[in-house]
Amino acid sequence: MFHVAILAGGPSSEHEVSLATSAEMLSILRSGGHEVRPVLIDRENRWSVGSLEDSFDLSGEPTSCEQALKQLKSHGEVACLGLHGPYGEDGTVQRLLESAGIPYTGSGPVASAVGMDKELSKLAAGKAGARTASHEVLEGARFPAWGIQKGVGYPCFVKPVDAGSSVGVARAEDEAALRAAIPLAQAEDTRGRCMVESLITGNEVTCTVLRHGEELLTFPLVSVQPADAFYDYHAKYNSKDTQYICPAEVRRETQAEIELVSRTLYGLLQLDGVVRMDFIVREEDGQPVFLELNTLPGFTSHSLVPMAAHAAGWSSLQVLESILTNRQALP
Ligand SMILES: Nc1ncnc2c1ncn2[C@@H]1O[C@H](COP(=O)(O)OP(=O)(O)O)[C@@H](O)[C@H]1O
Ligand SMILES: [Mg+2]
Repeated sequence: MFHVAILAGGPSSEHEVSLATSAEMLSILRSGGHEVRPVLIDRENRWSVGSLEDSFDLSGEPTSCEQALKQLKSHGEVACLGLHGPYGEDGTVQRLLESAGIPYTGSGPVASAVGMDKELSKLAAGKAGARTASHEVLEGARFPAWGIQKGVGYPCFVKPVDAGSSVGVARAEDEAALRAAIPLAQAEDTRGRCMVESLITGNEVTCTVLRHGEELLTFPLVSVQPADAFYDYHAKYNSKDTQYICPAEVRRETQAEIELVSRTLYGLLQLDGVVRMDFIVREEDGQPVFLELNTLPGFTSHSLVPMAAHAAGWSSLQVLESILTNRQALP
């Protein structure tokens, strides 16, 4: 039996999604007979440490992060991270847990920081053999109109460099639309940056990688087909019309390439736990283009990782137990 504290919420724009992921993890782990304590981090970074009977609707007075970490350390449990986005997924919480001597699930601080940063992730993905789309990173009001026109082109995508769940992401058809979307994307980035990226038209697929003992497993690819323009927040969490196809219908060579790049990148960045690597299989030539990776991917009942795992014959509980068993960070 594992003794686990699930960390949920946090100050990122993905607070709500994190609560959904964490509630699901809590119910799955308890159903498997594990002892689970909910820990809620609010949007102001105040922590509430629940009891082993609580769920995440904790009513007590929250405490400081430092106090909560002391409490967690005294319980001797493993921190299971149900967090998404900056703070929980970018190495910040990982560093705090390491300095408090608390073991945790998922990747270490450096790998998490690279994974959260879309520019660094693309650099690493290139090193792992992936194709990536051209991009420019913009800070402040600087607008290199010529560079964007020539290097990126229109239509293009604009997004925060370090957010998730499609918050602040927009497709821009022309310069006027791009100029309007840039500040909205920058507002969602912790350092006020945005990435302007060439449009890739094609089939969006995700590859789930899990360290399981000595092995790096990949689960069947999931393809995502939103009803409208792209896989935005609504298509991810609210729409009934988004279609998920698993296993994705892609050519065998394409699948092999996606899996190889995903495993290579996992090893290169020294990732841990379950990680999702996202690609678009380009319509024009069938080649996969790396988009981004998620070091703490969603784990709700309709998330892509459980879907891929189930297609491989794994239950969600088996995935969580594998993450806890094969965890690399801290003894
Ligand atoms: N260059 C691109 N070409 C086509 N679609 C894109 C591109 N960049 C992002 N998208 C669309 O926007 C969605 C969100 O972008 P993504 O880079 O995955 O950010 P997030 O971390 O918010 O999920 C993607 O799932 C995809 O549907
Ligand atoms: Mg994404």
